[in-house]
Amino acid sequence: MKKILLIPALLMALAACKSGVPAAIEKDAELEAKVEKTLKGLSLEQKAGQLVQITLDVVYDHKNACVNKERAEEVIGKYYVGSILNVPGNFAQDRQKFNEIVKDLQEVSMRAIGVPCVYGLDMIHGASYLAGSTLFPQEIALASSFNPAHASNMGEIMAYETRAASTPWIFSPVMDLGRDPRWSRHWESWGEDPYLQTVMAEAETRAIQGDDPNHVDEYHVAACMKHYMAYGVPVTGKDRTPAVVTPTDLKEKFFRPFKACAQAGVLSVMVNSAAVNGVPTHANKELVEGWLKEGLNWDGLVVTDWADLDNLFNRDHVAVDKKDAIRIGINAGIDMIMDPYDVSACTLICELVKEGKISQARLDDACKRVLRMKYRVGLFDNPIGKDYKELDKFACDEFVAKARQAALESEVLLKNEGSILPLNKNARILVTGPNGNSMRSLNGGWSYTWQGQFNERYTEQYNTIYEALAAKFNNVKYVAGVKYNDNGNWWEEDASGISAAVAAAYSADVIVACIGENSYCETPGNMDDLTLSANQRQLVKALAATGKPIVMVLNEGRPRIISEIEPLAKAVVDVMLPSNYGGDALAELLAGDANFSAKLPFTYPKYVHSLHTYDYKVCEHRETMEGAYNYDAIMDVQWPFGSGLSYTTYEYSDLKVNKADFTAKDNLEFTFTVKNTGKVAGTEPALLFSSDLVASLIPDVKRLRAFTRVSLQPGESKEVTLTVPAKELAFVGQDMKWHLEAGEFRVSVANLSVMLNCTKDAEWE
Ligand code: BGC
Repeated sequence: MKKILLIPALLMALAACKSGVPAAIEKDAELEAKVEKTLKGLSLEQKAGQLVQITLDVVYDHKNACVNKERAEEVIGKYYVGSILNVPGNFAQDRQKFNEIVKDLQEVSMRAIGVPCVYGLDMIHGASYLAGSTLFPQEIALASSFNPAHASNMGEIMAYETRAASTPWIFSPVMDLGRDPRWSRHWESWGEDPYLQTVMAEAETRAIQGDDPNHVDEYHVAACMKHYMAYGVPVTGKDRTPAVVTPTDLKEKFFRPFKACAQAGVLSVMVNSAAVNGVPTHANKELVEGWLKEGLNWDGLVVTDWADLDNLFNRDHVAVDKKDAIRIGINAGIDMIMDPYDVSACTLICELVKEGKISQARLDDACKRVLRMKYRVGLFDNPIGKDYKELDKFACDEFVAKARQAALESEVLLKNEGSILPLNKNARILVTGPNGNSMRSLNGGWSYTWQGQFNERYTEQYNTIYEALAAKFNNVKYVAGVKYNDNGNWWEEDASGISAAVAAAYSADVIVACIGENSYCETPGNMDDLTLSANQRQLVKALAATGKPIVMVLNEGRPRIISEIEPLAKAVVDVMLPSNYGGDALAELLAGDANFSAKLPFTYPKYVHSLHTYDYKVCEHRETMEGAYNYDAIMDVQWPFGSGLSYTTYEYSDLKVNKADFTAKDNLEFTFTVKNTGKVAGTEPALLFSSDLVASLIPDVKRLRAFTRVSLQPGESKEVTLTVPAKELAFVGQDMKWHLEAGEFRVSVANLSVMLNCTKDAEWE
């Protein structure tokens, strides 16, 4: 017996070495044998069906709120569709309802094919399509904590709670670098920096899936990293429009988080809906088959985004019709087609295989990847998963405490003139602004519904900003001033209440102006002007005219430009999208019961025509040159990446490096001391940046290479060591190889810097 098992194991190991790259997920011989056996038992039609994913609405009876058995019999029983996604009518359901849905689908699937259906859900900041679940701040806010423990807690809890919805697969983590604040999905990302994104996404992936990607247990689920790749930098700023990215940046910055998560064992990936450098990503064989599957020897599942093979012909004009688009997509490396309302792909795939336009080998490989994931998440052993009633930690105190702590560590203090904060408990506080009394705007999109509307139906037990402040302080009043139209478009506002807010301000000691955006998601969140709405600017100006001090609270999915009104505020707090516990966290922070400890994970712009990331090319910023002509190009931002204050002050000293001369083989250890020089305890995210002073490609001005959080009592000092493998200082050169070039580097932490010298050129693939 032992021998028989050893032989496939050996073959597997050899196969893994074929491409010269070790397998991203080590193969499990027993599991692979089961996949092979199941594949052999499937007909062409059954294999084709496994490659298709449909939205639940197609097989749902909305009138009776249950699966439409007849439709399910047709879609799964006749076409053998392998996967269903989404919630009925786009509304979060409770655990029991999901359990009924999944049971009904599996009953048909097991009877018709003997292969379970894999149900997938969009859960992106907790189990966000499941009523009663534990929601964390959205990724953009969580990134501000510079604390991967929160990404890990979120992943662990969202997986557990998703299992309570009888579901083994979530479309998370989102790993689009948020490098263009105009983009409507900026907030779904971990911010603009590739390193921060990598650390957080990897922590989340490992927590979602548990320790063994081949055997995901009944408390964990399969993750789906998305959207592969460079989705977040559309040239127009509008969702699902093309990006233009230098090939070197693509590899160095955009590929990096995907590579790390693939190597951490992520089981699936969703493809970027749009195009990169002229090629729709769904047709990009080099990126999908080449970089991801072959390049990393990764055997996971590639799923399209929503109807995106259709986009190859009806939007991008690279295919003549649907059949042609399927041919292109599957040959580029797509394994599952999310074709929400149409089963015709099942038939078209069969035709393409018969015509030799998709090879039998490609079909089998795609089908194996689908089956492999189904085996890996345990669906063949138990298509429903653990009884949801036994998952009794659902939304328990421990989970809630972790989400609350995450919210506390995510809100960023950007200004505190004259130490106006913390506020006195007896201060007369006027809360105003359209975000002051709204759970919808605290949560943002993908929260109970796609666009985040109808949040109130699910969030009664949580506190809005006004409710949380009213519970914490003794004298709080709310007058909206400007209101959103929750029954209309997200940008619609009613400014008729401005004079009432101003009148109320006269009898207040301080104004807490809660401004920003209402919730939105994806393409409906597109807009034409990044400036904060005219109504809200008007509200702040009118309030400022009263002479009362203003604390501005920004509750928004992307940094809306506020340069005109920022000088009118004494204090500014950016809470971004802190979710259900965000109001309570803000109240604690404003009262000084907790200290601010977050920093911006993106650059906050000041002007609409000056959108930068902190790692711009050195030549992008130029002071005035001497002589007759002025060639200046000034980087002027509202708040740089990494900005964030606290109620205490920190002093950095004694930055040292273990090796002033180094080569690619070295591990660089940077040691420095941080001291709390203020009067209250605090936690400081310490960020370490490097600058390559001269390189054969124009270098970035600086890059984040390491970070940690340092907790200090008043007067306390701690020595901190951050380790950076020297190879991390490399860049991708014109030949698409990694290069670490000899020469000087500057490494900085806060106001300190140290010089070091690379003594030898090195390059690698
Ligand atoms: C989004 C994805 C999402 C998918 C399924 C698409 O429109 O771009 O992020 O996972 O829908 O709901």
